[in-house]
Amino acid sequence: MRKLLITSALPYANGSIHLGHLVEYIQTDIWVRFQKMQGHEAYYVCADDTHGTPIMLRAEKEGVTPEELIKKVHIEHSKDFSDFFVNFDNFYSTNSPENLELSQIVYKKLKQNNKIYTKTIEQFYDPAKEMFLPDRFIKGECPKCHAKDQYGDSCEVCGATYAPTELINPTSSVSGAVPFRKETEHYFFKLSECESFLADWTSSGTLQQEAANKMKEWFKSGLADWDISRDAPYFGFEIPNAPGKYFYVWLDAPIGYMASFKKLCEDKKINFDEFWNADSKTELYHFIGKDILYFHALFWPATLEFSGYRKPTKIFAHGFLTVNAEKMSKSRGTFITARSYLDHIKNPDYLRYYYAAKLNSTMEDIDLNLDDFLSRVNSDLVGKFINIASRTSGFIHKYFEGKLFLDDSKTDQEHISVSQKCKDIENEIKTCFEAREYGHAVREIMRVADITNEYVNTKAPWTLAKDEAQHKPGSELHVICSRSLEAFRRLSIYLTPILPKLTKDIAIFFNEKEFASFKDIDKKDITVNEYQHILTRVEKKDIDMMIESNKESLDKHTEPPKKVDDNQSTILIDDFLKIDLRVALIKEASFVEGADSLLKLTLDINDGRLRQVFAGIKSKYNPDQLVGKLTVMVANLKPRQMKFGLSEGMVLAASNESEGPFVLYPDQGAKPGMRIK
Ligand code: MSP
Ligand code: ZN
Repeated sequence: MRKLLITSALPYANGSIHLGHLVEYIQTDIWVRFQKMQGHEAYYVCADDTHGTPIMLRAEKEGVTPEELIKKVHIEHSKDFSDFFVNFDNFYSTNSPENLELSQIVYKKLKQNNKIYTKTIEQFYDPAKEMFLPDRFIKGECPKCHAKDQYGDSCEVCGATYAPTELINPTSSVSGAVPFRKETEHYFFKLSECESFLADWTSSGTLQQEAANKMKEWFKSGLADWDISRDAPYFGFEIPNAPGKYFYVWLDAPIGYMASFKKLCEDKKINFDEFWNADSKTELYHFIGKDILYFHALFWPATLEFSGYRKPTKIFAHGFLTVNAEKMSKSRGTFITARSYLDHIKNPDYLRYYYAAKLNSTMEDIDLNLDDFLSRVNSDLVGKFINIASRTSGFIHKYFEGKLFLDDSKTDQEHISVSQKCKDIENEIKTCFEAREYGHAVREIMRVADITNEYVNTKAPWTLAKDEAQHKPGSELHVICSRSLEAFRRLSIYLTPILPKLTKDIAIFFNEKEFASFKDIDKKDITVNEYQHILTRVEKKDIDMMIESNKESLDKHTEPPKKVDDNQSTILIDDFLKIDLRVALIKEASFVEGADSLLKLTLDINDGRLRQVFAGIKSKYNPDQLVGKLTVMVANLKPRQMKFGLSEGMVLAASNESEGPFVLYPDQGAKPGMRIK
């Protein structure tokens, strides 16, 4: 028997759980349920991640204390998770006494091991709010493309990344005041000294291949020391003997895994040290999204190593959720909260099934395509899987007192082999679960469900049932229905980690409390209840309403729509200024092989590099008409990979339905690079 401690990343306590989060919690929950069904001692812990500036400011905005805010969110998150059957052994909070104590212990050990030092740094300070500002709370003009209202770390318009000090006209998004640079003493963790330990650790099979490769790249540029303190006012834990200095939220957050488990140990009399001592023989797994790999594969193991604790056995990173192949979006209504799913679609097993069918062990993104979701759930779960039971159980109930006939010595091999096929995939299914290849497991299960359905089709028990001689125990009718239901029961057991609710209903149909173990698979005295409708189809209208409701919540509560919509006749000057229009010299122009409408242009806007643009103007222009001319281009358009190459902008041309395109030329005197405003 293995002993395992398993975690999912701790959700921030300043927002609702959404379907993106659920990729992770469902993936982990399936794995934990699988381990428990194997008979292992497995614990699944999590907590709300409650500290940091955003939570402090959010509470202030809502007119409550941070403690009140995180309490409210904790209730909401707990309900969301339990309604999705995400079965934590403990769902705790990082703002707990256990976490305070453990954070201090870890910090003191790091200090003893000479891994902490202080250094004076300069940070932006908001004089109105009297606080230092995280990069996210500084806005200003992008130093590269001059787009207004960009964050302190990167520009959403041109994609440039920079330091907040490079922003032009920075302002505090908390108070609107102009922040200035101010010196302050910060505490640092000497990550640079952990490089050889981390190089070994990250390449020793603890990470997926893609993640290990990423690490190698990070090592190439060298590891910078880690700034682990923040100045008051800050919602978090104060650093021992450092008044006014707080642990940065990412220091105490992963320690929150330990703290949540510590609380569980106290409640359930589990030996905490056995799981966390440096020489622990137990297994520790962290499920995380790929965005927080740096924290879990570098900071966290280094913190553990140099404070005398065990390191994770493995880190399992997954990709991001897209909805209909696009980033989740509040304006499109695809930023779907867990609650709105429950309100409209209701059954969490549908989503659990869909995610499982799509999940594998890589860091690839996964797409929730809502049409595919509908058809997949309806055809696989309702059309295939449940169908086996709904077509056969009535006869067992009606003629055979609910008892299955499973006597191998009195049954032909052709019947036995149907449910035997379900039994045969047991090892493969288990291997898939263990390796987090859920998609593969689901495909195998559905393949065997198909075989079972074909068997029922061919044997047509409904025809046999017309013959009264078939109503006697041991008859062919009895055998056919029994073997199909035995097959159905076996497949249900495989699906239990994925579909806890549905399979619980199925267990009850089989007069069992639940399918708690894979050992249940070979039961011989199986009986069934009268079949009741266990599963309904997903309806398109419910999906549509869910999307609508997520759009609504945007207008009402979250933020005013930023984007100009099509029917609106005016935009603000800022919207216009986002487009970086430049006078461009057409240095080269050529036909593009295989393209009917495109010309390839090489444009110079006098910024030290040339840009390649594909323009749909072939119908009107020959390349040699264009070379040497000036035109107007959109210079900050996100580059787009086209079939013929990268297109790095757009030239402007006029047209209507019947005429054009006519390329725009600036008046005499204009020079390449001039901005058009
Ligand atoms: N609080 C940190 C984690 C601290 S762990 C010591 C955090 N919180 S989060 O709420 O932003 O995200 C929680 C988890 O959900 C992360 O693993 C994150 O990658 C995952 N996801 C959040 N949005 C997601 C998608 N759209 N798709 C898939 N997973 C996503 O990060
Ligand atoms: Zn920019």
